Amino acid sequence: MIRPAELIERKRNGEELGADEIAELILGYARGEIPDYQLAAFCMAVYFKGLNPAETYALTDAMIRSGRTLELGAALGRKVVDKHSTGGVGDKTTIAVGPIVAACGVPVGKMSGRGLGHTGGTLDKLESIPGFSVDLSVDAFVGQVREVGLAIIGQTADLVPADKQLYGLRDVTATVDIVPLIASSIMSKKIAGGADAIVLDVKVGDGAFMKTLEDARVLAESMLELGRHAGREVVCLLTDMDQPLGAAVGNALEIVEARATICGDGPPDFTELVLDACARLLALSDLGIEADEGRRRAQAAVADGSALAVYERWIRAQGGDPDPGVLPRAAVVRELRAMVVGYVTRLGAIDVGHAALHLGAGRAVKGDEIDHAVGVVCHAKRGQQVEPGDVLAEVHARDEAGADAATAEVLAAYDFGDAAPAERSILLDVVS
Ligand code: URA
Repeated sequence: MIRPAELIERKRNGEELGADEIAELILGYARGEIPDYQLAAFCMAVYFKGLNPAETYALTDAMIRSGRTLELGAALGRKVVDKHSTGGVGDKTTIAVGPIVAACGVPVGKMSGRGLGHTGGTLDKLESIPGFSVDLSVDAFVGQVREVGLAIIGQTADLVPADKQLYGLRDVTATVDIVPLIASSIMSKKIAGGADAIVLDVKVGDGAFMKTLEDARVLAESMLELGRHAGREVVCLLTDMDQPLGAAVGNALEIVEARATICGDGPPDFTELVLDACARLLALSDLGIEADEGRRRAQAAVADGSALAVYERWIRAQGGDPDPGVLPRAAVVRELRAMVVGYVTRLGAIDVGHAALHLGAGRAVKGDEIDHAVGVVCHAKRGQQVEPGDVLAEVHARDEAGADAATAEVLAAYDFGDAAPAERSILLDVVS
């Protein structure tokens, strides 16, 4: 039997730990035999000393072994593709990508997460749809993927329970933004969920865990290596999170925007990311096509209404009403207007994320209630030319006091200049 204190000390001193030692630590923690404070100390030691690839794989493998695994591919008799984002502001990509990919004939069964801090979560967004349930049994989940082509649910209690516990602990001990811990957290869920091929959207910028392209590349390489080790195909898209994705930030507001994008009426940056992710997922699927053809098919599914039809079937199958008119609306909607002539040179993702969080769109601590109606819509994005009186953004608030506070935060997210900033596309790099 290992002594956790010894392992913490050895990691603190920069020693390499064995796979068995890491497994005992993680599995003991998942069984409740090792306390939070020792795992917190272990995570902090990892923060300073890191894990090498063998240790990172051992950690991932132990997290997978802490619970059951799904054999979605075997149940469907198909190759299963999945996507995952490392988390950002206004990231509603899964909600648009899922129906488009399913409309192209590739089934999507996905476990998504909740928002934490300034980053949003797909489950919270979906729960803004009246009646929508994210709690399906595994059998119902598989059945819905087979019949509708698409199901999105919450992480079940018995799938990678070690990650669930560890993520909550990391969130309150300043140990979230560590490459081997992020890589093992994401890849353990994807591998246990049964994905054969995975598109990972690695966010880069002030609203992301990875602030620089270099750090994002290191994270991408680590996840590729874990995928290779587990025999899964992985493609990493490195995408811009220096400004919010699309215009809407906030749960119901993002559902409206995701639906509009499925109808071909989304913001340019979000539409580009959605089509790119769809193209790569279709290229990894068993359709046997290249990404260019995948993109063409994704565009066709948007244009001919088949993606919207899948969206509506999917929302109904999970108990929701797909009519955007039934989504909750905030009592106060305030427009923020430009007071200067010039170009938007910065729209800080983290500032807008915090404004939405303080409005009630996210949780300050685990278990907080969310207000699905509130949020921010950024009409003016980086590079846009504005004149006094132009609408920059809308704040959707519960009351006037909330709108006042959010207005100040959103205005502080904007910088203006005389010259247009250098163009930065949504897709910064692809690592595969
Ligand atoms: N998303 C996850 O699932 N885990 C992390 O550690 C970070 C982002």
